[in-house]
Amino acid sequence: MEEVVEKSSTQSVPAWVDNQEEKAKKSSPKLITSLQSGPEQRIETTDAELNRVLGGGVVFGSLVLLGGEPGIGKSTLMLQVALQSDQKVLYVSGEESETQLKMRADRIGIRNEACYILSATEIQEIFKQVKKLKPGILIVDSVQTLFSRSIESTPGSISQIRECTGQLLRFAKETNTPVFLIGHITKDGQIAGPKVLEHMVDTVLQFEGDRHHVYRILRAVKNRFGSASEMGIYEMAGEGLREVSNPSEVLISNRDQLLSGISITAAVEGVRPLMIETQALVSTAVYGTPQRNSNGYDLRRLNMLLAVLEKRCGFKLGSQDVFVNIAGGLKLDDPGTDLGIASAILSSYENIPLPTLTAFVGEIGLSGEVRASRRMDQRIAEAEKLGFEEIIVSANSVKGNSAKSIKVIGVKNIMEVAEYLFG
Ligand code: TYD
Ligand code: MG
Repeated sequence: MEEVVEKSSTQSVPAWVDNQEEKAKKSSPKLITSLQSGPEQRIETTDAELNRVLGGGVVFGSLVLLGGEPGIGKSTLMLQVALQSDQKVLYVSGEESETQLKMRADRIGIRNEACYILSATEIQEIFKQVKKLKPGILIVDSVQTLFSRSIESTPGSISQIRECTGQLLRFAKETNTPVFLIGHITKDGQIAGPKVLEHMVDTVLQFEGDRHHVYRILRAVKNRFGSASEMGIYEMAGEGLREVSNPSEVLISNRDQLLSGISITAAVEGVRPLMIETQALVSTAVYGTPQRNSNGYDLRRLNMLLAVLEKRCGFKLGSQDVFVNIAGGLKLDDPGTDLGIASAILSSYENIPLPTLTAFVGEIGLSGEVRASRRMDQRIAEAEKLGFEEIIVSANSVKGNSAKSIKVIGVKNIMEVAEYLFG
């Protein structure tokens, strides 16, 4: 019985609304001509990468979901925002104790005198505190720990996640407060919980990378207030996450020794060009079924590339173990990197090192054709800026580029590339 009472009372008067009249006023129909327009108001955080990924800062009244695998650094990123903001921020954690949070905060460094920590998981309790404190930004870590007493299921269940997110969304809209909500994702990349969560929020950010490497990518997967293709790169250091402003330089190792199986590709992640080193190791399979393994590059795509190289170019890869690795633990999501991967594979197979100042860009199709990639000018410019001497691209991408100090070589298919590299 008590449950039912709780439910009707929370539904009619949300905890953050002072009186019903005020709420009624807000939701009455208005003439469109009487409404104000103009750019949404945003808060610029001290984190330039985050601002960019959000489309130019945090929009007032927006609900942002930050997803990522456990241990990737979501709490660190958000606590950092809280500690460095000049707003009053409330960081609600159902994951860690106050002592743990304080230890982490000390590591990161506290610059915000008005950063409040609340260890709580019950949504009504959280709103009670929010109402008292009136923070400028609310951060909730994580959606899986939240629960509402009006719902009978356990925290983390679909109905709890939906109910609590719904309440946070209403809170954000009705008070114009930006809310960040952390959500864990499972190994297969889904935000644990209902897909509906992604539809409910304004923005979905994904934090990814390899836990054993230092680099992390923050991507916008959905953004009602900006482009959904922005990304930011961070480095996990001893004192929290550091922005990486020159990603290309850190992702290419300084090779003084020529090694086979290494190639450089100019990827575009989001809208930023990025020179990335890819590595491949091809070796004769000793036991049974050859192994195919990939870190940072889609395994199905790797299998497709291997089939193309075998069928179209005649490389006998069927009996070989093939391992592919992307430098820095990054995950590539750009088909333009195909040619780089294929070149690294061929280089390892032939045991012939590739020239160090050559970059490779192009998507590979099923018949072995090298296709044009988007933002080609930017990729060429990035390679040029970093001192590359030549860049191998699709023949369709050669025309009209403005390269000066870099030779742009157009190829039609992967056979031509093999011919060019290994004669
Ligand atoms: P965390 O933010 O707890 O990840 P998530 O909330 O996504 O589960 O970060 C986890 C890792 O980050 C942890 O293994 C320790 C590491 N870390 C650092 O390397 N430097 C730091 O300054 C901090 C705070 C964490
Ligand atoms: Mg965490």
